[in-house]
Amino acid sequence: MSDAATAPADASTKLPRTPPQILGPFYPFMQTPVETGDLTGNGGARGTVLYLSGRVLTETGQPVVGAKVEIWQANADGRYAHPNDENPARLDEKFHGFAVTRTDAEGRYHFKTVRPAAYPAAPGRWRPAHIHFSVTAKYEQLVTQMYFRGGEYNDTDPWLNSAARKDLLITDPQPVTGKEKGAQAVTFDIVLTRG
Ligand SMILES: [Fe+2]
Repeated sequence: MSDAATAPADASTKLPRTPPQILGPFYPFMQTPVETGDLTGNGGARGTVLYLSGRVLTETGQPVVGAKVEIWQANADGRYAHPNDENPARLDEKFHGFAVTRTDAEGRYHFKTVRPAAYPAAPGRWRPAHIHFSVTAKYEQLVTQMYFRGGEYNDTDPWLNSAARKDLLITDPQPVTGKEKGAQAVTFDIVLTRG
């Protein structure tokens, strides 16, 4: 282990830890996650293709290598393929909304998915579009959710607004060229304490 990795961190230069969020009722315990990184059924799923990637880092900026990164999400119509989901929105048989991967030597992960839609969580209350994450490393597991800049309901969602630093959970997708028409790319870096 290098000196950089073992030296005490200067508190002024620590990265802010990614805030936790609830697991929620739709963790797909009954499904097998996709391990190829592609949730779109080789592009067959409805919606805007989203290339989602990022790094898992310690608060001193070291890459967390080999961390397990799971994501699960609603489809482009706001529906989870989960028996707990009573939303009447359409299912998408081509979309597999559950995936797992491991971070590489630089702490990076990559998924190809679609942008999820907002969905009704209770009468009169909607959840903004989001993607659930569970990151398991050597010492820690972080369960959180990432959101989208400008997302409808971002300002009223109790879970997003419970985060100490909600700005760290709000991502900003950008158009990407050379991919599917209208595809977007987004970066979501995740900071653990020790990894
Ligand atoms: Fe959700």
